[in-house]
Amino acid sequence: MTSSKRAIVLGITGGIAAYKAAELVRLLVQQQYNVQVVMTEAACQFITPITMQALSGNPVFINMWDNAIPNGMPHIELSRQADAILIAPASADFIAKLVHGRADDLLSTLCLARNCPLLVAPAMNKQMWENPATQRNIAHLITDGISVLGPAAGEQACGEVGLGRMLEPQALMQAVTKHFTPKLLQGKRILITAGATLEHIDPVRAITNLSSGKMGYAIAQVAADMGAEVTLVSGSSALPAPDNLAFIKSLDAKSMYQAVMQQIAKQDVFIAVAAVSDYSPAQISPQKIKKSEDTLTLNLLKNKDILADVASLPNAPFCVGFAAETEQVIEHATQKRIAKKLPLMVANDVSIAMGQDHNQVTLIDDSGTHTMPTANKSEVAYFILQHLSHML
Ligand code: CTP
Repeated sequence: MTSSKRAIVLGITGGIAAYKAAELVRLLVQQQYNVQVVMTEAACQFITPITMQALSGNPVFINMWDNAIPNGMPHIELSRQADAILIAPASADFIAKLVHGRADDLLSTLCLARNCPLLVAPAMNKQMWENPATQRNIAHLITDGISVLGPAAGEQACGEVGLGRMLEPQALMQAVTKHFTPKLLQGKRILITAGATLEHIDPVRAITNLSSGKMGYAIAQVAADMGAEVTLVSGSSALPAPDNLAFIKSLDAKSMYQAVMQQIAKQDVFIAVAAVSDYSPAQISPQKIKKSEDTLTLNLLKNKDILADVASLPNAPFCVGFAAETEQVIEHATQKRIAKKLPLMVANDVSIAMGQDHNQVTLIDDSGTHTMPTANKSEVAYFILQHLSHML
């Protein structure tokens, strides 16, 4: 989202987790990062520079004396071009070198010569990780302002089980994204609803809608990356619960209403992205309904409007609504903004957004309508939250 044209040096050191660096490069490139890979000699025993070159689209540098760099000073040149350096995997030996400010190969030298943030993803055997020397070194890195990502626990290449595995490429990608996301919502408490509600008819049947939850989950993730303290109240969604925020599952409209009202007093912002069922069955049959009749009439009762009720609380937080429309999108969204008394409404055409990975929205506030470009849902979440942050 904020990655376009960001330059990252990916340093790879010697360890079996080096193979995961290939997937990490692919993810970084996909997210528009310009990736410059620098490998140690030991890393080349585990994965070839050719693989990294093909995936990054840039030549890979390994030694200090590479004459491909115009001024003959690759350690200065490469670190000056970088917005951040990420070492993944970082071996125990390389971490020790960083602690001591050693500069005996290209990667350690450019880390020492850097003027940008350094992120380190340790990967080693669990005994090596637990060794007091490594633990001292990690504490030292943190004191020096270096970000340590992981490690994770699990099965290791040596067959042992424990802490020391490198974080998975997806988790590292997320950490990099977070690192680069401006902290526009630092200290704000934000409550978000997402997903579809599911209203039971009987023990095996329910009324729901086609919302995937992708937009709401993306907003929750990006808000957390922007420094907000996020609570996500989710209806039905196949997405995994994000692990860096408070997560409450409430499947039907009534329980979602209760969950929101329990949390609302302490919130600065409420963003209602959930597709809440407007009606629920008046009665839930305790037993499975049998198809004994030719027609079946369901008696439905209107649900309370969570967003409208929150917006009319005496100390209401800043409220943001989503208007999912199939026609006259802006007109309907404008009317809903007025009816629900919202400072900000996000209008989207369901035929573009529903279930997709991309979206195109228009923001409506007192100053008028603001049309955002079509983008993936994380980027759209960023546009919305950036706009919102200027209104707080
Ligand atoms: N909303 C809510 N509680 C409800 C219904 C809707 O919090 N019971 C919120 C949604 O999360 C969304 C906004 O209100 O932010 C608009 O929802 P939408 O379904 O587009 O509109 P409705 O108000 O339900 O009106 P209609 O179904 O008639 O279009």
